[in-house]
Amino acid sequence: MSELQYPILTKINEIRRMDRRSFLGFFQSCLIAPAVLEQVGQEGNDRKYWRNLRKHYPIAASRMMNLNNGSVGTVCLPVEEKWFENIKKMNRQAPYEFEKHVGQRFVEKSLQSISKMIDCDQECLVLNRNATEGLTNIIEGVKLKKGSNVVAASFDYPYSINALKHKCKRERLEFRSLDITLPMSDDEILNAYSTKIDEKTSFVLITAVTHREGALLPVKKLVNLCKENGAYSCVDAAQLIGQFSHSVKHYDCDFYAASLHKWVSAPIGTGIMYVKKEKLKDVRGVFASYEKDENSYVKYKHLGTRNFASEASVYSALLWHDAIGTDRKLKRLQYLQKYWQEKLDESGPFKILENEHANGLAALYSDGQSVVQLKKHLARNNIHTKVVKQLSNNRNLLRISPNVYHNEKDLDKFVDAIKDYKLK
Ligand SMILES: Cc1ncc(COP(=O)(O)O)c(C=O)c1O
Repeated sequence: MSELQYPILTKINEIRRMDRRSFLGFFQSCLIAPAVLEQVGQEGNDRKYWRNLRKHYPIAASRMMNLNNGSVGTVCLPVEEKWFENIKKMNRQAPYEFEKHVGQRFVEKSLQSISKMIDCDQECLVLNRNATEGLTNIIEGVKLKKGSNVVAASFDYPYSINALKHKCKRERLEFRSLDITLPMSDDEILNAYSTKIDEKTSFVLITAVTHREGALLPVKKLVNLCKENGAYSCVDAAQLIGQFSHSVKHYDCDFYAASLHKWVSAPIGTGIMYVKKEKLKDVRGVFASYEKDENSYVKYKHLGTRNFASEASVYSALLWHDAIGTDRKLKRLQYLQKYWQEKLDESGPFKILENEHANGLAALYSDGQSVVQLKKHLARNNIHTKVVKQLSNNRNLLRISPNVYHNEKDLDKFVDAIKDYKLK
């Protein structure tokens, strides 16, 4: 038995003793036979399946309700156990020995698994700490033509916009901001981008799922638009990975970065970066690599001393994620969203922001009431959400992002708390 499998199998045995029939399918599927799962729990509202799953998320038993999984999620118990075990192991030996003998092996297994999940070449992937790190490395490292322009939208992640603005200032490139308010149809989005992208555009940031609205952008079509104009396409997949099944090969984008601690529920501080093989020479390594590594992905991998135990635990999270499956996760997230949205009184002051492609992220807004005050009221009830500002219209949104282990009772509590809010 591999050292990875041990804690999860221990858990399986424990669970089998508790309630053999109901848990068997789920846990077997974790490691052994995903096909077993296909008969059960395919829908987002299969109560028995999700009730069993919930038992394995420590946060579900806490008083705090995290409705901010869009920032960062928490791991399930078997992954938590593996993670803690790795921390202990690392701390009880020379940590670089742990990195050499355990860390590297599991990083390779994780990259193999992620390359299958997002359909790309394994060798083009680098495991790092988060999407911010990946996107900043790409933006800092990419060699852009003198006198060219770069395009980003006001709904992109602000720190990636900042990285682009810094680069433009330093390298005297033109920064073009696309200022539109979501939601919009795919055609409208595409038209808006085409007013900004031209033959002098060298780089376009494409956020696959926006962090404020949870809007799914037409990535493939936007990548094609970049190609037609000879610009690099860089996909921010921080909110996409783990929620929507997708293929990097199909997108055919040049660059891609994501966090694994959001919707894949891997340990906090884990992410990935992808650079298309043909574009390797176009993106220098920002970290201090050796000259001899200039033509290899090693130039992106020298990240210094970091949390090797977290990196080594990503593989357990990927196994867990695969056992549930991205499509089933999405169905669950859509079911939960629909559930609370139907319970919310639409005639009340807080309105739901429309979203054609529902997922784990949704937002509320109000014309007369402050969502900042609503957030504080919810926090006093131990319900944690996030306020985000749509820059194009200066409007605050209250972002609501539950996770698969939440249940109807949690969401009733959330909706009741909104109904109890004393209007100001
Ligand atoms: C679209 C998007 N990009 C990038 C990030 C940055 O993610 P991280 O803080 O994990 O680096 C976020 C975080 O919420 C995001 O939503």
